[in-house]
Amino acid sequence: MANHFSQLAKKSRGVIPDLKVDKNSKNSNLEIFKLGDEVLRKNSQRISKVDNSIRNLAKDMLQSMYAAKGIGLAAPQIGIHKELLVIDINFEDSAAEPLILINPEITAYGSTLNSYEEGCLSIPGVYLNVIRPSTIKLKFRDEMGRPRKMKADGLLARCIQHEMDHLNGVLFVDRVSSVEDLKTELAKEGFNQKDVNPIN
Ligand code: NI
Repeated sequence: MANHFSQLAKKSRGVIPDLKVDKNSKNSNLEIFKLGDEVLRKNSQRISKVDNSIRNLAKDMLQSMYAAKGIGLAAPQIGIHKELLVIDINFEDSAAEPLILINPEITAYGSTLNSYEEGCLSIPGVYLNVIRPSTIKLKFRDEMGRPRKMKADGLLARCIQHEMDHLNGVLFVDRVSSVEDLKTELAKEGFNQKDVNPIN
């Protein structure tokens, strides 16, 4: 998810030292695929073993996310179809820990919906309102393969849902209800509306 908004919460968990990434680093060796590339539309596979190759991938993804000034990145965005997400809604706070979510599954949605503007590193420059449940519960594995559970609300809940959509080949523009806004915003950034797969 692209960082258009800076708000909210702090989730501290203690990421292992090897995964520490300089949030101000501009170094990134990964290409982030853009709307229109079929790579973004494929389903991802569960990760059966959380090993060093997964941890290294998470670290590379964090670097790319920070370099691109994003708050979330899903593995399929760099062409890797594995259920791995990195998130850091506190990118401006160098001490805040990023979140690494492996095989995330939402176990419950709150009953309240809200609408908020989203962006995506795969659709740069495009920001549109999306309606989503405002709270979620989820389970996942952390970077050591340990099972974890958490509750999320606000920007974090939104970001997790946005990134999890990527694992199913869904992009936030597929969920935009205002067709007019979608058309205008995509055209402004040179994207093709035919590359959107509306969900409703
Ligand atoms: Ni995205």
